[in-house]
Amino acid sequence: MELRDAGHGDEGRDLGYQPGFGNEHSTEAVPGALPVGRNAPQRAPLGLYAEQLSGTAFTEPRAHNHRSWLYRIRPSAAHPPFHRVPNGALRSAPFHDVEPDPNRLRWGPLPLPDEPTDFVQGLVTVGGNGDVLRREGIGIHWYAANASMDRRVFSSADGEFLIVPQEGALLLRTELGVLRADPGHVALVPRGVRFRVELLGPTARGYVCENYGRPFQLPDLGPIGANGLANARDFLAPVAAYEDREEDTEVVNKFGGNLWAAVYDHSPLDVVAWHGNHVPYLYDLHRFNVLGSISYDHPDPSIFTVLTSPSDTPGLAGADFVVFAPRWLVGEDTFRPPYFHRNVMSEFMGLVEGAYDAKAEGFVPGGASLHNMMSAHGPDHTTFDRASTAELRPQKVDDGLAFMFETRWPVVPTGFALGAGHRQEGYDAVWEGLRRNFRP
Ligand SMILES: [Fe+2]
Repeated sequence: MELRDAGHGDEGRDLGYQPGFGNEHSTEAVPGALPVGRNAPQRAPLGLYAEQLSGTAFTEPRAHNHRSWLYRIRPSAAHPPFHRVPNGALRSAPFHDVEPDPNRLRWGPLPLPDEPTDFVQGLVTVGGNGDVLRREGIGIHWYAANASMDRRVFSSADGEFLIVPQEGALLLRTELGVLRADPGHVALVPRGVRFRVELLGPTARGYVCENYGRPFQLPDLGPIGANGLANARDFLAPVAAYEDREEDTEVVNKFGGNLWAAVYDHSPLDVVAWHGNHVPYLYDLHRFNVLGSISYDHPDPSIFTVLTSPSDTPGLAGADFVVFAPRWLVGEDTFRPPYFHRNVMSEFMGLVEGAYDAKAEGFVPGGASLHNMMSAHGPDHTTFDRASTAELRPQKVDDGLAFMFETRWPVVPTGFALGAGHRQEGYDAVWEGLRRNFRP
């Protein structure tokens, strides 16, 4: 057995990366492994097999076309049959456990496991929408793990995985190379790309948006101009790194909402070189260029969109990934926290660290809230009272990192999520203290 990691330390601190979201990247772990001037030469260099991995239909417009060419030790086609394995607490849309619930829901952190549990075993589905077989909608998951995946890799044919670590750094060994994702980072693993999650600490916890729909892309900037929000060059793709391991490896494939597995006689993380744009990315949320009002009011939270998965209707996202990063508030005569609102879009929020400026308490790191289509929400009474009387000096909001998965359809929770022990009963009480102030 030989493990070649292109010189990277196991902690992943010295990983080389290739910057630039959507770039046509190219990389080789062994010089000469990447063919020049063609994708499928009669004999690929170094005795490798050439394989195309497409993330969009061949014929989609060039601006949205995703594919990569992989040069690997064994072709992916050489594998034994897949057999159904238990799904654990992982579920996919459509969800029929419970009736769609208009109530505002909130959870504390998903408890860490007692038994040895890896990333895949630790996936627990909160809910979602759309239909996994129609490639529309999302699945929202938590994960809590205390073990690295061992001789095991995972991929989802159902969608891309946007992983938001909240506790514990992850080393993602993907077919296309290695990413280290710390809390405060997000990792995006495209549909079909195999990866193994190794823990860099004793435990790990976080969130996943499994996007069944069109791949996440950077939002258009319109009048903002050519720069701002998440800048393309801050997204990091891995460099090629491969495993030459002739040993049994369980390959778990999420397909049609269920888990299937086959035991290969080698590691399928055996891609020695690749080029293309269907690639994993790492992004540090602290790099987000936060824009906002410098006069009065504050913009709608769409101004905080990091990535968006468009639908066929312009401006209507299947999923938006939104971050509430540290920023200055300077609005004059303005209620500065998020305003009260009822939205057609549905909002799942999580907290990576610190606190969120619309909730004085109860919304804690690792926790989550779900405000579904047209469900009224906004600041709690403590926040409202404080913000309504605060002296409006320039104020830095820098005590937390919250995010939102926002989606076009209502999120139907799983029965597990509704009945979970870490669900906070009585969330409505947050808004109970809002007094009548009307004095005609
Ligand atoms: Fe909201």
